Amino acid sequence: MSRQILVTSALPYANGSIHLGHLVEYIQTDIWVRFQKMRGHDCRYMCADDTHGTAIMLRAEKEGITPETLIQRVWDEHTRDFAGFHIGFDHYYSTHSDENRALASKIFLALKDAGLIEVKTIAQLYDPVKNLFLPDRFIKGECPKCGAADQYGDNCEVCGATYSPTELKNPVSAVSGATPVHKDSEHYFFKLGDCEAFLREWTTSGALQAEAANKMQEWFASGLNNWDISRDAPYFGFEIPGAPGKYFYVWLDAPVGYMASFARYAADNGLDFDAWWGADSKTELVHFIGKDILYFHALFWPAMLKYSGHRLPTAVYAHGFLTVNGQKMSKSRGTFITAESYLAQKLNPEWLRYYYAAKLNGSMEDIDLNLDDFVARVNSDLVGKFINIASRTAGFIHKNFEGKLADGVANIELIGAFQAAAGTIATHYEARDYAKALREIMALADRANQYVADEKPWELAKKPEAVYRLHEVCTVALNCFRLLTLYLKPVLPKLAEQVEAFLNIPPLAWEDSQSLFIRHRINAYNHLMTRIDPKSIEAMVAANKQNLEPTPAPAPARHAEAQVHAAQPAAAPVADTISINDFAKIDLRIARIANAEHVEGADKLLRLTLDLGELGTRQVFAGIKSAYAPETLVGRLTVMVANLAPRKMKFGMSEGMVLAASGDAPGLFILSPDSGAQPGMKVK
Ligand code: 2FM
Ligand code: ZN
Repeated sequence: MSRQILVTSALPYANGSIHLGHLVEYIQTDIWVRFQKMRGHDCRYMCADDTHGTAIMLRAEKEGITPETLIQRVWDEHTRDFAGFHIGFDHYYSTHSDENRALASKIFLALKDAGLIEVKTIAQLYDPVKNLFLPDRFIKGECPKCGAADQYGDNCEVCGATYSPTELKNPVSAVSGATPVHKDSEHYFFKLGDCEAFLREWTTSGALQAEAANKMQEWFASGLNNWDISRDAPYFGFEIPGAPGKYFYVWLDAPVGYMASFARYAADNGLDFDAWWGADSKTELVHFIGKDILYFHALFWPAMLKYSGHRLPTAVYAHGFLTVNGQKMSKSRGTFITAESYLAQKLNPEWLRYYYAAKLNGSMEDIDLNLDDFVARVNSDLVGKFINIASRTAGFIHKNFEGKLADGVANIELIGAFQAAAGTIATHYEARDYAKALREIMALADRANQYVADEKPWELAKKPEAVYRLHEVCTVALNCFRLLTLYLKPVLPKLAEQVEAFLNIPPLAWEDSQSLFIRHRINAYNHLMTRIDPKSIEAMVAANKQNLEPTPAPAPARHAEAQVHAAQPAAAPVADTISINDFAKIDLRIARIANAEHVEGADKLLRLTLDLGELGTRQVFAGIKSAYAPETLVGRLTVMVANLAPRKMKFGMSEGMVLAASGDAPGLFILSPDSGAQPGMKVK
């Protein structure tokens, strides 16, 4: 029976580029959607940009443009990148839409009518310079537990403590650098606690993966907090009906964006919105998300739907994060790879689709993109095994049989095995265990290659008496190739299109797996896929290296970009980037200040004698007299440039340079290493 399925992927933030971490989810979802469509189901894939919030507002301000202009530009970039990876959304919208405003307001008012909204006054940190309440990620300070400096307002990356930003010691606004003040304001809360009985039941109803359902139990055990769904102006978002100056928190209208995307699509395509979203809808609603946003999709969202009179999700499928070469994606290592930079190297998007599919098994485990393995696997499976079957046999059909396949298949056992696999492969796709599906498919490809290797069509072609056999063998091989293409089509949609053109057949659907491919004229074979050249991978990594940028804060891969931007205060731009080779030319060393003294006749300079351990001592004249009395420096460690060409100064030779920080505010601060560093150690 045909199913009606509405599928979504999480809505990417409109303040960053799509990168390979994001693509895990969109590729995972797209494969599932394409599979469902091939099965003949009525499946619609909805998504949108997630456009609201303080981060987007500030980013637009920093760029000197309106948020509307920013989100339009990012929408153009996102849709271009997704199309580049063949992500086949049926509709890609924006949360900044009339439909979303109307639906978010309607849901809010329904929750209010149900008695699930309460208003409370709370104190929050406020930036008195920017006149802005500060979101947690825009406040930095010392951890209240371990004292670590430079920690965000919600958790400490050093000791792992979580806390409220008002607990941070010596907080600073990351927007203006000002010291935030406490300020009261009225906030709207969704009473999640009142939904507990429903949520306990729903989260164990089978809509979640077992690992996710277990996680829920921990959350119930620690108690459900009511959810703050309002933010004060200035905020880029939707004003709350009946609450001037109050806006919906971005996470309130983001999931409503799934609905709004569908609402617009339904209006444009003559579908009945209520049949898909009404409380007694018979359709399926399937959300693909990253495990970091489970809380929103497994608690807030179902509760919002339930108590506003809508249907509930049929399934929420969470995936893990992406690592590259076994580590978190990193700008300094060049592994924070944008979708755009991948495509710019002319790397085939279907290589990545195949590799991700080979790693995805439907669980919440993280997946690793090992770049060497990527090259080896794609070259061996796709080119060496799959394409090889056609490239070794199609030419003979064209040359010897006018492009026409034989009237029957000679090895019905082999073809029968290929056809019989359709059910198992479908079960794996349905369960999102693409890794297993591809293992089955590649095992079939091995059998087809073995058949070709045993039959040796290139030798049959040399013997006139074997011409009939040659025809049979090539027909069997091309039947195998057609079935492999069909099974791989959810993963490799463009390649499948090329194969359909070459085989001269209409688009393959799943049920075509049970038919034979005979008595049919095919087109000439043109090369279908090339091997990955490892050099283009190296070039891509080099293009993504950003030596002077800080590594993104530890964060879920899909989030990293957003948080990097969120954390950037509006500061002066850094100097032009340099290559790692340029940086490597600077020999930075730990030095002990063995002696420091005033220089007769110099206003600004101190004469330092620096001890570099085994590298000996250096005399350096440093312009730090205004900030340091010489005796306070003796004995302390600092960092010096050890290979600066010696400079002859009025008072003698200066053999290097000591590093010190200064800015617009008064003060000069020489650098010192953490304890344990030794004189002479290299700094890199
Ligand atoms: O985590 C994120 O990237 C969010 N922009 C996802 C939103 S998903 C949905 F709820 F809108
Ligand atoms: Zn801490």
